[in-house]
Amino acid sequence: MSERSGTFADDAFGGRHPTSHERMTGLPWDASYHDGPAPWDIGHPQPAIVRLASEGGFAGAVLDAGCGTGENALLVASLGLSVLGVDVAETALAIARKKTADRGIQVAFAAADAFHLESLGRMFKTVLDCGLFHTFDGDERPGYVASLASVTEQDGTLYVLCFSEEGPDIGPHPVRQEELRAAFNPSHGWRVAAIKADRVQTRFHDDNGAPAWLATIKRI
Ligand SMILES: C[S@@+](CC[C@H](N)C(=O)[O-])C[C@H]1O[C@@H](n2cnc3c(N)ncnc32)[C@H](O)[C@@H]1O
Repeated sequence: MSERSGTFADDAFGGRHPTSHERMTGLPWDASYHDGPAPWDIGHPQPAIVRLASEGGFAGAVLDAGCGTGENALLVASLGLSVLGVDVAETALAIARKKTADRGIQVAFAAADAFHLESLGRMFKTVLDCGLFHTFDGDERPGYVASLASVTEQDGTLYVLCFSEEGPDIGPHPVRQEELRAAFNPSHGWRVAAIKADRVQTRFHDDNGAPAWLATIKRI
């Protein structure tokens, strides 16, 4: 984060090293939110996250890494949990904050780089990654995984919902199960508890969405 509390500096990438996705598109993530809803911004929580929440999957302080416009964070906060959503896209955060005001749900949203979560100075019992991991390339994953480890309590839980490579209608950043297991292995402080086939809804797939993995990963 910049010296201005909770905001990034004004250059296009906020003084950050652009991510692989930003280098590929030539645009900062924020631009995805400028002209109407982004392709992944479906206006409600992902069904997989709704199901997790109804099964009691969230506990303690919760971090939503790459929260976008906050639908998943708002859902989890509606359970009465303390939730912080972070993103690099100020426009998304502004939309998310407006939703909290409109809906009367308490959620904190802050500008923060997922590669430097330790700068939050907080630990979380549950961390959610809904669509962020799959935007990072292989070179970026170790730094992101270490950053997640720095804010996840021991025995805490990380959920990763990402596009999978299975099926005919895959999303733009498919991830293989083995890639999840390689990234979140015990030598990096993680144990993969489960990886289940699920779906991710987007604005460019039909209601059934795209094939996904929902990974439940424990901090050890
Ligand atoms: C595919 S979108 C998913 C957004 C949201 N989780 C959802 O389900 O609608 C990925 C999000 O991660 C954010 N993001 C990308 N790189 C980031 C980084 N290094 N730190 C924090 N957020 C990042 C983007 O701005 C975008 O909002």
